[in-house]
Amino acid sequence: MSLSPRGSIIVGTGLKMRTVSAGDIENLIGFWRSIDGVGLGKGDDRESLERFIRRNPTTCFLLTEEERVVGSVLGGFDGRRGYIYHLAVCPEKRRQGWGRVLMDAVCRELEKLGAHKIHLFVLNNNHHALEFYRYLGWEHRTDIRVMSSDRSIEKHRTD
Ligand SMILES: CC(C)(COP(=O)(O)OP(=O)(O)OC[C@H]1O[C@@H](n2cnc3c(N)ncnc32)[C@H](O)[C@@H]1OP(=O)(O)O)[C@@H](O)C(=O)NCCC(=O)NCCS
Repeated sequence: MSLSPRGSIIVGTGLKMRTVSAGDIENLIGFWRSIDGVGLGKGDDRESLERFIRRNPTTCFLLTEEERVVGSVLGGFDGRRGYIYHLAVCPEKRRQGWGRVLMDAVCRELEKLGAHKIHLFVLNNNHHALEFYRYLGWEHRTDIRVMSSDRSIEKHRTD
């Protein structure tokens, strides 16, 4: 596997990596629905994903084989921290280094934007993803808990 100097195309295996554009969203949603371990929720509708890609044009990547999506990762930068979402490789392409390629690409581009620290979320029961991230050197934080506020519920309460 080799990366072009711009890091946008991988040749030699039939797989290509490129940044995501709005026209890819339907295919991406279909791909994520087929992958165990990718949780889809609020923020994964077309409008939200289009906004995410518009705001993060250089940090969202797609891996394709003859136009079929076989891998993905979304990176977001908020001006302070980087965040990674929806890393996935289709089952038949796993353990061939593609997950690492996607992680390298998104981390490299987030760093270029100024992200010195990058976070990602993994469901407690996704043991194999936890092992993968640990293997790549990611630290499992036990000193923080994620707290969330569902603003669509809050909005209904005050309506
Ligand atoms: C997690 C995932 C993206 C890994 O993709 P992948 O293409 O199989 O990973 P790679 O082949 O690049 O693996 C990179 C290294 O991690 C190791 N690795 C991969 N999966 C591992 C696991 N479950 N446990 C331990 N090590 C693992 C590989 O052996 C490889 O090591 P090497 O470079 O020394 O050979 C893939 O399994 C996946 O899509 N899972 C389902 C979706 C998911 O759970 N995503 C995470 C959401 S938070």
